[in-house]
Amino acid sequence: MTEKQLSELLQDMTLTEKVEQLVQLNGDFYGGGDFLTGPAAAFHLTDNKAYRLGSILGSDGAARLTKLQDKFMKEQPHHIPALFMADVIHGYKTAFPVPIAMGAGFDPELARETAEAAAKEASAAGIHVTFSPMADLARDSRWGRCMESFGEDSFLNSCMTAATVKGFQGENCKDKGRVASCFKHFAAYGAVQSGRDYNVAELSEKTLFEDYLPSYEAAVDAGAEMAMTAFNTLDRIPCSMHKKLLRNVLRDKMGFEGVLISDYNAIGETIIHGAAEDSRDAAEKAINSGVDIDMMSDCYLDNLEELVTSGEVPESLIDEAVMRVLRLKNKLGLFEAPYKDASEEDEKRLCCCREHMELSRRAAEECIVMLKNNGILPLRAKKAAVIGSLCESRDIVGSWAIFADSSKTVTLRAALEELCPDVEFEFIPQDNPDEKALAAAKKSDAVILALGEDQLGTGESRSCTDISLPEEQKRLFEKIYGVNKNVIALLFGGRPLAIPELAEKAAAILELWLPGTAGCLAAADILSGKVSPSGRLSMSFPYCSGQLPISYSAFNTGRPKDNRVKEFIPFLSNYMDAPNIPLYPFGYGLSYTSFEYSPVALDSDTLTSDSRITASVRVKNTGDRTGKEVVQLYIRDVKGSVVRPLRELKGFKKITLSPGEEQTVSFEITEDMLRFYDINMNFTAEKGSFILYIGGDSTAESSAEFRLV
Ligand code: NOJ
Repeated sequence: MTEKQLSELLQDMTLTEKVEQLVQLNGDFYGGGDFLTGPAAAFHLTDNKAYRLGSILGSDGAARLTKLQDKFMKEQPHHIPALFMADVIHGYKTAFPVPIAMGAGFDPELARETAEAAAKEASAAGIHVTFSPMADLARDSRWGRCMESFGEDSFLNSCMTAATVKGFQGENCKDKGRVASCFKHFAAYGAVQSGRDYNVAELSEKTLFEDYLPSYEAAVDAGAEMAMTAFNTLDRIPCSMHKKLLRNVLRDKMGFEGVLISDYNAIGETIIHGAAEDSRDAAEKAINSGVDIDMMSDCYLDNLEELVTSGEVPESLIDEAVMRVLRLKNKLGLFEAPYKDASEEDEKRLCCCREHMELSRRAAEECIVMLKNNGILPLRAKKAAVIGSLCESRDIVGSWAIFADSSKTVTLRAALEELCPDVEFEFIPQDNPDEKALAAAKKSDAVILALGEDQLGTGESRSCTDISLPEEQKRLFEKIYGVNKNVIALLFGGRPLAIPELAEKAAAILELWLPGTAGCLAAADILSGKVSPSGRLSMSFPYCSGQLPISYSAFNTGRPKDNRVKEFIPFLSNYMDAPNIPLYPFGYGLSYTSFEYSPVALDSDTLTSDSRITASVRVKNTGDRTGKEVVQLYIRDVKGSVVRPLRELKGFKKITLSPGEEQTVSFEITEDMLRFYDINMNFTAEKGSFILYIGGDSTAESSAEFRLV
């Protein structure tokens, strides 16, 4: 339809119909039998009205959604098709590694590919919009939703977010196999205080703009069709009624023109926050702030019409929101093809097809991080005990893999049996170090311990105060270590855990994350040595929970612990019981080979606003195996009108080198990369000295200096 036809359609709609387009309920409302006495009763809905709403969430399946669409189009007076939205976060039937793991892959192209595969499966299953990517920055692993974040760094997060949006939408979300992407949660949901989910976020304006907003903006720039508000407050205002944030920042400053949806009941929750009187007040505040669709609360449904007729909300506000919803339906091509790509045949053909299972395995290969290796890996043991309940668990895919086909999940046991036929394994799928477990450990050359969290231990509303290993796993480790020192710890989970005991004693540690449907095959390939690990941490691993939040991109303070200006000052910015630095820093990860870096070379040590500097290093594979290295560029702005981080990631390249091979890796430095919010909140670069570091993690030492003049 043309824009004119859409406006004509809008003009022809009654106010009731318009409001209906702005309400979204979940699929349970469309299940059948208990409809009028079940969830619908709480929403004062008749069956017919439910089928006139603009969109639903959480339903899937070509057969079901095709039927539902017929019913929606029959009931809606103008036969407007519904939008089917769902959480396709890291895959649909085929699950790919969770986003924090994808962050560790340092490979935006891979993120694009996995999103593209997820879109193919989901669109064949009738889904039009995915509530992904989550662009929230995460620096506190007490927060269970770290799992859904690409990590602690603003630049990495922006690259991964943009690539994911492009992977879902392609050039045009109307195209076959594409879905529209809804980025979330606007804004700063990852900054919830104390890592407690849904808590308040308290940030300075500079931190918000400089660290937290860029990844959302990257989603806008990548063309994301939708955005979702966050549950938290920001500046003590619930985000779903934060007019300044939603209108001035998201719409005006970032230029977002798509549909803005609330999170689940987030408009209703403004009352519980204590910032709205009742559902009428909540609806008025949310629509005024620019929230187009009310997900799963009755605020819009019960009040918007009356708010317009009483003159409190101008109808033009409703029209603006409805027009955005209609435009999205049109962009997806739903007026001409209301089922879009829904096809039972394609669904069967695509879901967990060989190509997607291979991609799931390949993605995990890139994301698994080797944190320690005393030389025990690749595995040479003839006999190995594999102990821990997670070794046979299928709950290792990810807590948002809600549609994943768990019958296809490859367990660690299955993967080891298939890919390491020369090793004699004894599997003991329990965390209890009983006699059987100890006997198996004793008679083995090495013990593989499956530790960490399963998919229910991480994710939404899975915050915790202590991120160390559960007591029973610590006990298991100590007991096993007591009888066999060759312990290889495999860590599952969606967040950095505090593992000082493993770091000290284990022979090797591999962070597998929640690796997806075929991810354990990658773990087995890494254990056997077929693949050299190449993931690098997307979030720092602290020594203990008390260090949180933590990020490499910290500030010096006036009394830095490791950089004393005056030795006589005994009062330093430190802890009495833990170091300031993390156990394993952002960007860190080992390989089976080794890399040597030349000193950093700059083609000029002076930068102007219209010139560029090329910074280069030679990287050489000095080991005897092919391996991948993530070459990382960090910059420090030595002095600013406000304090500047010690380092900021400004570029990265993942390269493959065969034994003895060398490659020159170059980065272009331009003035816009040095911009920040200055003392007057202007986004600008200030003249002066900069230090540039290039290396294999955020502690890289090879540096060079330049000046911006
Ligand atoms: C709540 C979550 O916060 C959000 O990420 C998700 O997309 C919605 N529920 C819909 O399931």
